[in-house]
Amino acid sequence: MKIFTEEELASITNHFAMVIGRGGQGKVYKGILEDYREVAVKKSISLDDERKKEEFVNEMIILSQINHKNIVRLMGCCLEVGAPMLVYEFIPNGTLNSFLHESQLPISLETRLQICTESAKALAYLHFETARPILHGDVKSANILLDRNYMAKVSDFGTSKFLSLDGTQFATFVQGTFGYLDPEFMQSSRLTEKSDVYSFGVVILELITRKKAVYWDGNNERKCLAQLFVSAMRQKDARSTMFDQNIATEENLEVLVGVSELAEKCLRLSGEERPTMTEVVEQLKQFMAMLRATQETSAKPNEFFTVISVEPTEYFTVSASPSASCYSSYCSCVFLGNLYCFDKNFHKTYHRKIHDFTKKLVIKFLNCHIRDEAVFSSSAK
Ligand SMILES: Nc1ncnc2c1ncn2[C@@H]1O[C@H](COP(=O)(O)OP(=O)(O)O)[C@@H](O)[C@H]1O
Ligand SMILES: [Mg+2]
Repeated sequence: MKIFTEEELASITNHFAMVIGRGGQGKVYKGILEDYREVAVKKSISLDDERKKEEFVNEMIILSQINHKNIVRLMGCCLEVGAPMLVYEFIPNGTLNSFLHESQLPISLETRLQICTESAKALAYLHFETARPILHGDVKSANILLDRNYMAKVSDFGTSKFLSLDGTQFATFVQGTFGYLDPEFMQSSRLTEKSDVYSFGVVILELITRKKAVYWDGNNERKCLAQLFVSAMRQKDARSTMFDQNIATEENLEVLVGVSELAEKCLRLSGEERPTMTEVVEQLKQFMAMLRATQETSAKPNEFFTVISVEPTEYFTVSASPSASCYSSYCSCVFLGNLYCFDKNFHKTYHRKIHDFTKKLVIKFLNCHIRDEAVFSSSAK
């Protein structure tokens, strides 16, 4: 990990010109290192607030000991008294929260399960694979970032804690975010890794319902997704009405029901009854395998894809996973390492392994920012 001076970070961020995020601890700025690698620089807002300062140091200590592909990497820090800052690898596709709730693009169940499994792996690693178990402490979709290929990167370790040998820790104040808070912890102030499991249960719900953890319904009433879901689970018919209708197709139903039952277990009131994150990962992997099996048996080639729009002219957009989309008079998508091409009427479907030329094409498509207006305004309605 590199130690930066305040001056160096000012130069890297072009004097803190570009804000890319805000959170409880401070603002996050975009920066570019001398070797052109992009970074995110988090600067603490209030230096007089002892708790904020502690959170900052805490995040540094914890992240500096972690190495996992689904956890955001800390590349360096600035320890100058007046300007403590953390430098992370830059994760370009925003948070899972904005991906789910601020865009209208269809997101396939496979992509959702992929993000879910990757985030779960990160938490299982924190709980069971580090020298001392670590509790994340603020698991939510806004703290899961998405990289260029929509791979999940768990972030924001300000409220993380090492657990003592008996696997618990007492908190002196309520930490976490409304809508994701473990009710058992609220009662006892006792933190265990099962608090993360509860919060993760809410993230699973967000992925399958595409509703926010706390949202306003049609009657202007504030709803808590976890509560609503747990009561819906008691009535079998109500459950499926909660699924995001875009993915609630017949062939997805079995997997969706399985995933919702897993969420329900994570949301149990008693921490002891919740599964461990390792068990959650195992289950999610099984659902992923189940989904792939149903796709292989039931789908005709075109059914792998969601049509976003078909213009009367030659532009249309197809998306197999949100990262594989393009617009042109014909269209191609990558799916499970294969490249599929369509002509504009969907009459022909070519299916072949990627060779060099198409690889370049595909890389170009993957690089286009999915939420970039310019890409979509010419094709999406
Ligand atoms: N490594 C990163 N790459 C890109 N954006 C980031 C990165 N880290 C943080 N951000 C952005 O900054 C926001 C706040 O960061 P976060 O670490 O969650 O801070 P806080 O503790 O203040 O909530 C995030 O929601 C995200 O939009
Ligand atoms: Mg945050």
